[in-house]
Amino acid sequence: MGQVASIILAAGKGTRMRSRLPKVIHNVCGKPMLAHVIKAAYEAGISRNIVVIGHEAEMVREAIDNSEVEWVYQSAQLGTGHAVMQAESLLAEFRGNILILCGDTPLIKPETLAQLIQAHLLSGNAATVLTALMDDPTGYGRIIRDDDGRVLKIVEHRDAAADQLKLKEINTGIYCFNSPKLFAGLKKITAVNTQGEYYLTDVLSVLRNDGESIGAVTVRDPLETMGINNRVQLAEADRIMRQNKLEQLMMEGVTIIDPQNTYINQDVVIGPDSVVYPGTIIEGICRLGEKCQIGPYTRLKDVTAGDNVIIQNSVVLESSIGHNVSVGPFAFIRPETILSDGVKVGDFVEIKKSVIGKGSKVPHLSYVGDAQIGDKVNIGAGTITCNYDGSKKWKTTIGNNAFIGSNTNLVAPVHVGNDAVIGAGSTITKNVPDGALSVERAKQSIYPGWVDKKTKKK
Ligand code: UD1
Ligand code: CA
Repeated sequence: MGQVASIILAAGKGTRMRSRLPKVIHNVCGKPMLAHVIKAAYEAGISRNIVVIGHEAEMVREAIDNSEVEWVYQSAQLGTGHAVMQAESLLAEFRGNILILCGDTPLIKPETLAQLIQAHLLSGNAATVLTALMDDPTGYGRIIRDDDGRVLKIVEHRDAAADQLKLKEINTGIYCFNSPKLFAGLKKITAVNTQGEYYLTDVLSVLRNDGESIGAVTVRDPLETMGINNRVQLAEADRIMRQNKLEQLMMEGVTIIDPQNTYINQDVVIGPDSVVYPGTIIEGICRLGEKCQIGPYTRLKDVTAGDNVIIQNSVVLESSIGHNVSVGPFAFIRPETILSDGVKVGDFVEIKKSVIGKGSKVPHLSYVGDAQIGDKVNIGAGTITCNYDGSKKWKTTIGNNAFIGSNTNLVAPVHVGNDAVIGAGSTITKNVPDGALSVERAKQSIYPGWVDKKTKKK
C-alpha cells in the first residue's frame, strides 16, 4: 500500500446524545465508538492515525488510552473542514494520501476501508469519497453527480434544494485525499452555509473546479457507515455489531441458542462445540475453550477458561479457569481467582482472590476469600474463610487432600496442613499440622428422659 495516514474526526460534542460524555466515547458493544474506528483503521493497514479532539478532549484521550495514535486539538468546533485543517502542521512533509474517518461510525469494516484506499490509489484521483445508498437519507449530505455520472459536489441536508433531497446516494463522511491537494483545497473553502461552518465536503467542489477528478466508491452494506448521532442510533449500532459478532462465532462452530438474548463483546474468543445458553453476557477480553457450556443467565468479564468448562447462572469476573471445571448454579467468582483443572464450585458460593487447586471442590454455600487451597481438597457446605479482621485482610492456606467439615470458620491468618481433617462446625484459629484432626466444638450434652419428665411436671 502507498503511504496512507488517517485523520479521524472526533472533536464534536454530539449535542443530540444529550450527555455529559462526548459522543465518541459512548460505548458500542462495551467499547467507545471511537476505539472501534481506530481499530478499523489499523486493521486496514494504516499505521499512522491522527485523531482530532476538542470537546472534553482529555476525557476522550483517557477513555481511548492509546499511545500509538497522534492527538490534535481543535479548540473551537467550526466544522469538519476546520477539524481537518488542525492536522495540517503534523502532515506538512507528508506527500502520501489521507483517509478521513469520523469517530461516530463504529460499524465501519477494515475491508471496506482497504477497498476505498485501493480504488483511490489505482485511480490517481485527487479525492475518492465513500458513498452509500440509503432508503432514508435524512440528515446526510447528498452526492451530486454530473451528466457523466462523475461526482460534482456534496450538498448538506440542511443546504439542499427539494430535488436534491430526493437523492438517496449519501456521503458517508469517509474519504481518501491526496494530502497536498487536500490542504490546498481547504484553504479555499468558506463558512457560507446554513450552519456557518467550514465543511470538509466543500473541498470536493473546490478540487473539481480546479480541474481535479473526484471518484466515488459505493459501500455494499450501508449499515456499516451508519453515523451515530443519538441514543436510538447508539442502541441500533450496538445491536448490529453484536449480531455480527454472534454470527462470526456461530460460523466458527459455537452454538448460540438464542442470539436475541445473548450479549458477546468484540474481544471474546470461544472454541468450537461450545454452547452459549440464553441470557448470557460475555464482556471485556475473554478466551474460552472448546466444548464449554456457558449460561443460562451468566455474566463473564475478562475471563479465560479451558475446555469442557460449565458455568451456569453465575457471575465470573477477571478470573482464570482451567479445563473440566464446573461453576454454579448461582456462584460469584470475583477478581483474581484461579480455578485449576477439575475444580467444582457449586451453588451459592463466593470466591474472591483465591487459588483453588486441581480437583478441589467447594460444592455449596461457602465464602472463600484470600485463600490458597491445594489439590483434591473438599470444602464442606457453609465453610467461611474469616479473612477480614475489621481493618486488614488475611490469608488462609490449605494443603493437599485436606477435608474441611461443614460449617467451619477458618479465622485467617491460618494454615491447614496436607491430609488434615477439620470436624464439622469448628472455628479454627490455630494452624493445623499435616495429617491431624482438629475439632473445635462445645461438648454435646444428652439428658435421657428429659422430655417425659417435663410433661409429668405439668
Ligand atoms: C457529516 C458530513 C455529511 C455526511 C455525514 C456522515 C460534513 C459537512 N458533513 O455530517 O456530508 O453525510 O457526516 O455521517 O462534513 N467534528 C469535528 N469538529 C467539528 C465538527 C465535527 O471533529 O468542528 C467531527 C464530529 O465529532 C464527528 C464528525 O466530525 O465525529 C462528523 O461531524 P457531524 O457533526 O456528526 O457531521 P454530520 O452533520 O453528521
Ligand atoms: Ca454524524
